[in-house]
Amino acid sequence: MDALTQIAQLAKQQSAHDHSGHDFQHIRRVVANAQQLLAAYPQVDAFTVLATAYLHDYYDEKLVADPAAVKAALSEKLQHTVGLKVAQIQPIFFVIDHMSFAKNIDNHQSLDLAGKIVQDADRLDALGAVGIFRAIRYGATHNNPDYDPAILPRQELTAANYRQPSTVVNHFYEKLFKLAETMNTPAAQQIARQRTVFMHQFLAEYFHEIGAQPPVTG
Ligand code: ADP
Ligand code: NI
Repeated sequence: MDALTQIAQLAKQQSAHDHSGHDFQHIRRVVANAQQLLAAYPQVDAFTVLATAYLHDYYDEKLVADPAAVKAALSEKLQHTVGLKVAQIQPIFFVIDHMSFAKNIDNHQSLDLAGKIVQDADRLDALGAVGIFRAIRYGATHNNPDYDPAILPRQELTAANYRQPSTVVNHFYEKLFKLAETMNTPAAQQIARQRTVFMHQFLAEYFHEIGAQPPVTG
């Protein structure tokens, strides 16, 4: 079995029990997005990009109780089961440690091109029809309401308030509608803009059906 297939299996095992929108289907979509974005960058090492895409949520602090221990165990497996060198693992872990939305709210982390591609691939999966499913799933998992006219979208997300409860509808205004402009690569930005148009249509229909006005933001 080649290294990438073994890494895919590790990712599959680790994500098998997730119900918060980070299951293996999410991982596969991020890998597919990364593969698509890679087409424009033949100079970038595809193995590093795809391995990082497979492993990007493996030891995430929102998904595991002890991220440092899970990261150390993963490093062991990558060295001794998959046969990677420490020098191959380091750039993968650097990107994983710096790419998340939460890590980039208060200060912008600079990533190399491989990292930028994986970050775009992950962010694309928060948008469009898939993104709507994931936002609803996240809200349900965290017992957040779909919508509450008394809770206004926050103007500014910070690392401190990002994980505070809000509504699913507010999440579109607070984060999702702003994501397209944060894409690193032109191809991802184009896809993100299309998906954003669809999300606007979805919420317009929602507010039309419930006879309410969308929140005024700006
Ligand atoms: P990352 O993908 O960088 O790890 P998150 O963990 O914040 O970022 O997001 C994972 C998924 O959960 C995304 O699809 C995101 O839109 C969704 N999500 C995060 N926070 C909320 C929220 N407060 N309400 C609804 N969906 C959310
Ligand atoms: Ni992810």
